[in-house]
Amino acid sequence: MSSFEIDIAEHVPFDELDDEQLWAYGADLSTLLNNGRNADILRDFPFVVNTYAAGVDAAYERLLERRDVHKPGGRMQFAVFVGGAGCGLSVIAPDTPKPDIAPVEAANVSSFICEPYRRRGVGQFALRQRLIVIDQLYGGQAWTGIRAENEASIRNVVKAGFKYGGDYTNDRGTDLQLYTYHR
Ligand SMILES: CC(C)(COP(=O)(O)OP(=O)(O)OC[C@H]1O[C@@H](n2cnc3c(N)ncnc32)[C@H](O)[C@@H]1OP(=O)(O)O)[C@@H](O)C(=O)NCCC(=O)NCCS
Repeated sequence: MSSFEIDIAEHVPFDELDDEQLWAYGADLSTLLNNGRNADILRDFPFVVNTYAAGVDAAYERLLERRDVHKPGGRMQFAVFVGGAGCGLSVIAPDTPKPDIAPVEAANVSSFICEPYRRRGVGQFALRQRLIVIDQLYGGQAWTGIRAENEASIRNVVKAGFKYGGDYTNDRGTDLQLYTYHR
């Protein structure tokens, strides 16, 4: 992580963003998610994309709700910035329904980074920032489910120490690969 972008990347818990910062972040996400270059995010985050792409007011309203339920040790959401501009979303969710093959104590991690900010180390930075929190507050165990063809995400989690744990189908009928992290 030696790139210039990483030096100016930030991973900020929602409860540390004031109203004005949250609004600006929502405006950035809304613009990025309306750009066709980020259409792939819809596949894994349909609800998030539909809400945030609906415009800055809808995005801001949703972010306020998410900030209200943000809780260290519970569901946590983080805004990812590069050079002060919102570029992605990063989540820890211990309440996400787990496949039977996942460790009972592990918390789910998921994220997206928008174009034009990809392939600069920001996704890896955001994941490692969450793993620090996983180590501190979630017993050092995390899991995530990834479509087999999502090479970018698989390489990103394996690079941070996740191991393949088997195949499963989630409650939406999507075939996924389980990846787990143990401190
Ligand atoms: C997966 C995602 C978060 C990666 O973000 P990113 O900022 O581009 O990732 P990084 O630049 O930090 O790359 C980390 C590693 O991932 C791999 N990688 C990233 N993009 C890749 C691609 N398009 N193809 C192959 N490998 C890729 C690389 O191995 C890279 O390590 P390296 O730089 O040492 O080679 C981003 O592509 C994304 O948001 N995708 C859409 C949403 C998604 O799939 N989320 C995860 C679903 S669970």
